[in-house]
Amino acid sequence: MSAPQTPEHQRVLIVDYGSQVTQLIARRVREDGVYCEVHPCQKVDDAFLDVFRPQAVILSGGPESVMHDGSSRAPQSVFERGVPVLGICYGEQIMAAQLGGSVEGGTPEYGRAEIEIVRESPLFEGLGAIGHREPVWMSHGDSVRALPQGFEPIAVSEGAPFAVIADEGRRLYGVQFHPEVVHTPRGALLLRNFTRSIAGLSGDWTMAKFREEAVTRIRAQVGKGKVICGLSGGVDSSVAAVLIHEAIGEQLTCVFVDTGLLRSGEADQVVSLFRGQYNIPLIHVDAGDQFLGELKGVSDPETKRKTIGRLFIEVFDREAAKIDGADFLAQGTLYPDVIESVSVHGGPSHVIKSHHNVGGLPERMKLKLVEPLRELFKDEVRALGRELGLPPVFVGRHPFPGPGLAIRIPGEVTPEKVAVLQKADLIWLDEIRKAGMYDTIWQAFAVLLPVKTVGVMGDARTYEDVCALRAVSSVDGMTAEFSRLPWDLLDRASTRIVNEVKGINRVVYDITSKPPGTIEWE
Ligand code: XMP
Repeated sequence: MSAPQTPEHQRVLIVDYGSQVTQLIARRVREDGVYCEVHPCQKVDDAFLDVFRPQAVILSGGPESVMHDGSSRAPQSVFERGVPVLGICYGEQIMAAQLGGSVEGGTPEYGRAEIEIVRESPLFEGLGAIGHREPVWMSHGDSVRALPQGFEPIAVSEGAPFAVIADEGRRLYGVQFHPEVVHTPRGALLLRNFTRSIAGLSGDWTMAKFREEAVTRIRAQVGKGKVICGLSGGVDSSVAAVLIHEAIGEQLTCVFVDTGLLRSGEADQVVSLFRGQYNIPLIHVDAGDQFLGELKGVSDPETKRKTIGRLFIEVFDREAAKIDGADFLAQGTLYPDVIESVSVHGGPSHVIKSHHNVGGLPERMKLKLVEPLRELFKDEVRALGRELGLPPVFVGRHPFPGPGLAIRIPGEVTPEKVAVLQKADLIWLDEIRKAGMYDTIWQAFAVLLPVKTVGVMGDARTYEDVCALRAVSSVDGMTAEFSRLPWDLLDRASTRIVNEVKGINRVVYDITSKPPGTIEWE
């Protein structure tokens, strides 16, 4: 059992019953300044609760049916500790079943629905009075049919007479819908009412405070030891490095492996930011030739990934070995990598694409790990980056895959193709920024296709490559929708790319969402 990471904070426990969207509950709660942790239901027992001492508990949704023998339950003491409990969907159903009510398979409701408030409650503060109808997102087959003693319905929906239930005296609440998803537009307010008004939490989770505490923790962990940090040019490793540097100064050395597969100008930005603005000791390894050399003749996407991953570790290893007496390796591990997932059906999930990091290194090099971002979601890392004074353009950068431009050049990767793609990508991002749309897009990039088509420029026939433009909106990269961008923006980008980038004579826009596509082309 892992103990809470920051016992000094007020905290909410989110018990995960395997819903696809449990992490969103945590993000909504944290966005409002309340610290919370997600733990799998199998782990949460009385002993866990005694250590964690939550000030409020949220029971997530999940794919199980309360009516099946052996389906998951909450420890009964969750309802007896005197702390408020909010059950969401399956969480509502187990709460009802465990406290003496009943659940049945009834009219399923999937997608948009409306609830009508039938009784006033602090849960609805700012939402509306009796008779108010509120759009929500439902996803349930079973429903609560009989309420436990002390409970009453406080909102109803067409398919669920007990869409929201409450025992106000014991501060126990259940909602059949999902307040954590964006399709419940004012769901965040409902969660806020639960944590702030009902549980009385003050919202003491800020990045300024996290920064202070993290610095103290890093100093305590590292002592006089030396730390190596691998920089990728991305936000996570950069924020981790700046934070660690604030804590231990020159005891930190960063190793930046420049694969030659970064976006245009990015390697220079990393070097000038770390050496110039922060004065952090930085080893810049220009390994472009080595990476491109080894990628010669490789066109299979997974072989590309494996080659790049292996080389990255080799190069990093070689450079890190030169740092005398290093004791720790810093990693930009985030909370979503740490949360233990609930596997209700068992079995590993299917690997669609293998991602590389510096896994395997610490054991071989006998290094201990420093992972100062383990508790944070991506948007919190960005907020911390701003707090640490990293430039907003840097902090707000779209995610970028470890294998870089190599997986945006289907087929063989050559230095010439990388140069062509860098130019096209730069123009695409420049036009998106000029249109003021960069921050509304999750990820945008260009792809250089191994397809030649005929064109005409002036009076001459051309026969050159096709460039595909991609822009998607997403919450976490797991699913994504292609961005509905203005024609004018696409027009400007296409015209500029064909005119300014030698080697491309046709531009297409990718209108595939994920699923069925993936965000990257490889
Ligand atoms: P896909 O293409 O799987 O991408 O829909 C989802 C997110 O993951 C990123 N991605 C990678 N990141 N190594 C990484 O570090 C990889 O091999 C890799 N492949 C995809 C992608 O950019 C998107 O943000």
